[in-house]
Amino acid sequence: MLTTVNISDSTYYIGVNDRETYLFENLWPLDKGVSYNSYLINDDKVAVFDTVKNTKINEYLEKIQSLIGDKDVDYLIINHMEPDHSGAVKALKARYPNLQIVGNKKTFEILENFYGPMDTYHEVGEGDTLPLGKHELLFVMTPMVHWPETMMTYETSQKILFSGDAFGGFGSLDGGVFDDEVNLEFYMDETRRYYSNIVGKYGSMVQKALKKINDLNIEISVIAPTHGPVWRTSPEHIIRYYDCWSKGETEEGVVIAYGSMYGNTQQMADSIARRLSDRGIKNIRIYDASKTHMSYIISDIWRFKGIILGSCAYNTGMFPTMEALVSKIDNSQIKNRFLGIFGTASWSGGGVSNLNKFAEKTKWKQVGESVEALSSPKEADFDKCQVIADEMADLLLEERQPNRNAFSSTIY
Ligand code: FEO
Repeated sequence: MLTTVNISDSTYYIGVNDRETYLFENLWPLDKGVSYNSYLINDDKVAVFDTVKNTKINEYLEKIQSLIGDKDVDYLIINHMEPDHSGAVKALKARYPNLQIVGNKKTFEILENFYGPMDTYHEVGEGDTLPLGKHELLFVMTPMVHWPETMMTYETSQKILFSGDAFGGFGSLDGGVFDDEVNLEFYMDETRRYYSNIVGKYGSMVQKALKKINDLNIEISVIAPTHGPVWRTSPEHIIRYYDCWSKGETEEGVVIAYGSMYGNTQQMADSIARRLSDRGIKNIRIYDASKTHMSYIISDIWRFKGIILGSCAYNTGMFPTMEALVSKIDNSQIKNRFLGIFGTASWSGGGVSNLNKFAEKTKWKQVGESVEALSSPKEADFDKCQVIADEMADLLLEERQPNRNAFSSTIY
């Protein structure tokens, strides 16, 4: 039997799991898969909310038919046009030719750019409504979360917010679909990895979207995103996390990421970490940028206030995996961190000097002086590493307040 899940009165989860794709957007590892969530309301009119990736069309159409039999789908609401959600639009339209595609002006522009002209558009704007029978839909424009056409749809009788990518995360839904059915520790990590790598650059637009939803003064009983668990027990938790993440709020802790060819730069990372630990810092994450995919490092950089970056020299520049990580940090517009820099020069230099250029650009508060050892770290270099660790610890401990980590008190 195909899996469809009742969410509330005549409203169903009809999403699919993708455990075979290696890289989301051909960039981000899907070690634990991903779900493409779609929903259906079976009322006088039948409405479907977003579709799925084009590799899942058959399963998807069968799910719809299993719920509505010979009825038509009257409306396809497109909250987001990225192909992981619009991949079945053409097939759905072919199966249900009378279907009206509901979106905003930008939705249709992008739709036609991807799939060519389609007829029977139903254009909606801010605050427009659409009756389905007992259910009514209200449309909220939330552009750039994280594409220009993104919007959300609120179902007024059951108080369900169909939120698109917002509040969604990586990880296939392995049996459990709702927040109270799954291990939230895993999904929160994967939701932060999704947020920080896919949506985080647009934090100010997320803030605008949250404010708009707040100003509507609506009760939200369920948040139904296009990836990850459906939030029916604690929608306020994921809203709080999104608020914190998009404001750039952080937890006490330090990410040390380094590129090291022969272990010399790595030794400096370990030395810094040990000193941080001596000073009472418990959240310390060391990442070898050649081993761990940058999406995981970025996710922790989003989480913690302290960032310490190390690089050996490579062909007169930064080590390539660190260069990629630093470029992603720069592109993500991460703000307000404490930064330390270390590395080794080998015969050319280039690792630390390029990290210094990054430091100047970010204008983050730097701890200690950048330390660059010649090929291998000596006692004097380790001493400078201790200064980086001490100054980082000083700043973090200054900020420490009882119960400051609002994140950790709830879900983690
Ligand atoms: Fe899940 Fe922006 O696509």
